[in-house]
Amino acid sequence: MRYFVIGNPIAHSKSPQIHAAFAAQFGLVDFSYERLLAPLDGFAATVRQLVETGAGGCNVTVPFKEEAFRLADSLTPRAAAAGAVNTLRIGADGRLLGDNTDGAGLVADLLRHGELAGRRVLLLGAGGAARGVLLPLAEARPAAIVLANRSVDKAHALVDEFAPRLPAPLSASAFADLAGAFDVVVNATSASLGGAAIPLPDGVFAPGALAYDMMYGKEETAFLAQARAAGVARRVDGLGMLVGQAAEAFALWTGHRPDVAPVLAQMRGAL
Ligand code: ATR
Repeated sequence: MRYFVIGNPIAHSKSPQIHAAFAAQFGLVDFSYERLLAPLDGFAATVRQLVETGAGGCNVTVPFKEEAFRLADSLTPRAAAAGAVNTLRIGADGRLLGDNTDGAGLVADLLRHGELAGRRVLLLGAGGAARGVLLPLAEARPAAIVLANRSVDKAHALVDEFAPRLPAPLSASAFADLAGAFDVVVNATSASLGGAAIPLPDGVFAPGALAYDMMYGKEETAFLAQARAAGVARRVDGLGMLVGQAAEAFALWTGHRPDVAPVLAQMRGAL
């Protein structure tokens, strides 16, 4: 069966390597996975072509995740909550199931590094990346999730929308008003891209806290450098989330649940 990752740009995507490694784990010889560049105004046409040629599905990346959400014929609950789709499965009848595996990938990676149940979680950011992970994060039953954002209005809007239907308490805060310490601090802002530090008050990191940046790279991200400077020993970047979201997509398509650890080590070595 043929699978793809659609984006614009797409040349940088690591997903083909990841899925090839997963397929090798199960000896799937008829599994292929390729990059597909869609024109900015041609996402729907590209997907239609996949349907017509009998492909099994695709991953969707920037800037098409919201369009994929609108294009899907049905949605998983986590995709409906995210308002964005990163995985499409094409049914035998050509219908499109939209899923979003980003949050599950994040939660799986966080759980590899410690507990979430009963812990206090701080989620930084209120854009698409934060929205995409809120439901799976809450389903891990933390004691509380506090959503902090530079534009505090956006944090409040997201909390108003999500709080009534999440299985964990959710509240909004400005960075400067953050009170108490957090066991897990997740950066879902794009601040690391510009190398900017996030103006967090002292004491935000609880003793033994985990600092997690959804971004990753060969060099330490700005957020993880900030956490190191604040004395946080446990710091993890988002490469494991990338491999984890791919594993969820692979499982949705093939029914096989891959072993993430060796593939993550391989990808880390190739950074
Ligand atoms: P994404 O899809 O990656 O979430 P987005 O929807 O554009 O992208 O959201 C970017 C997030 O990063 C926002 O929460 C943004 O904060 P604002 O809502 O206040 O703009 C946050 N962000 C970007 N640069 C930042 C910086 N230098 N400091 C703090 N937050 C930043």
